Amino acid sequence: MEGAVAAGFDLARIRRDFPILAEKVRGKDLVFLDSGASAQKPRQVIRAMTWMMETAYANVHRGAYHLSEAATEAYEAARRAVAGFLNAGSEREIVFTASSTAAINLVAHSYGRGVLRPGQAVLISEMEHHANLVPWQMLKAERGIELRVACVTDAGELDLADVEAKLADGRVGLLAVTHMSNVLGTVTPAGRLAALAHAHGAKLLLDGSQAAVHRQVDVQALDCDFYVFTGHKLYGPTGIGVLWGRMALLEAMPPFLGGGDMISEVTLEGFLPAPVPAKFEAGTPPIVEAVGLHAAIDYVQAIGMPAIEAHERHLVDHAMARLAPIEGLSLLGRAQDRGGVFAFALDNAHSHDLATLLDRVGIAVRSGRHCAEPLHARFGVESTCRASFGLYTTEAEIDYLAEALGKAREFFG
Ligand code: ALA
Repeated sequence: MEGAVAAGFDLARIRRDFPILAEKVRGKDLVFLDSGASAQKPRQVIRAMTWMMETAYANVHRGAYHLSEAATEAYEAARRAVAGFLNAGSEREIVFTASSTAAINLVAHSYGRGVLRPGQAVLISEMEHHANLVPWQMLKAERGIELRVACVTDAGELDLADVEAKLADGRVGLLAVTHMSNVLGTVTPAGRLAALAHAHGAKLLLDGSQAAVHRQVDVQALDCDFYVFTGHKLYGPTGIGVLWGRMALLEAMPPFLGGGDMISEVTLEGFLPAPVPAKFEAGTPPIVEAVGLHAAIDYVQAIGMPAIEAHERHLVDHAMARLAPIEGLSLLGRAQDRGGVFAFALDNAHSHDLATLLDRVGIAVRSGRHCAEPLHARFGVESTCRASFGLYTTEAEIDYLAEALGKAREFFG
């Protein structure tokens, strides 16, 4: 195996688990470098979801018959698996949502409107995905909650002095930042952020949409207050995300969506909410998706998050060595602690044209602003291409990208 970085990490075997990686694009091998947008799925996930639909499917929490009880057990087993994956204090702290975006919106609606008070502020950063920006802009417009934005340095790191300065007056109720940038790859110093937030009376929300895929996450060690991630970037299905929150916070928060399953009692005059987490899971939940997410968690845990992280650290070093010397190619961000996400611009080439050229040789990258327009404005670039790695990414694929970029440079002049 190339770049053998961790005992037991068998890249060739892992790649065989992902049927789509054997596909051809215009007769060429698929080089899938867009896992940051959505990762490919191993057979284990596909089979678990098929098994559920073929043999064990019914609605959950609603039937006294065997199949519904079996489906409920599978759904709740997924919650226990997520709790273990995050090292949550209790499985009741795990709320299933439709996505990371839905999880952040849940916090913005429930904590933002129910717990924060006008005059308080939410502090985010310049490197946030729109999912951790727009919900707070909506809250600001509706409730008079101030929105503060911490700066990012030229290296693409969070400016901690600026974070501290913006927390200093004690009016920030929530610091909400990414745990790993979807554009720069920067991993933010969660422990330091938690200490700063708590010292100034704020809670900390980490958007782990990218980080949870690449790093072992322990919410108790991170000392954050909310953590969100999504299934489809973790080799699981779309349509399911996770909100973890400290129990005391979740209990203090009002329900967000109303409907079935989130009540313990309802009359025509009013309702009593169900206990956490059902309080936040109105309507039929993502049942098959929860089973798929459970299989994805089992899959990455069987490989081992430390082994995945070691493999990806190796890929990051390799990509830096191969991409940085390419003349005319600008890489966005040079953070010390980073994951396998590289955004770049090539002189004289629009990102969509460059992505189209790369697609011709089988390479899939994302182009545009990656749902992070203010970050692109911060770096003074109109748009970029982004190569993002998964646990199945190989050194050879990065070499192939570097060669294709060299040729693209000649093409665009
Ligand atoms: N949030 C996903 C990305 O960064 C879609 O591409």
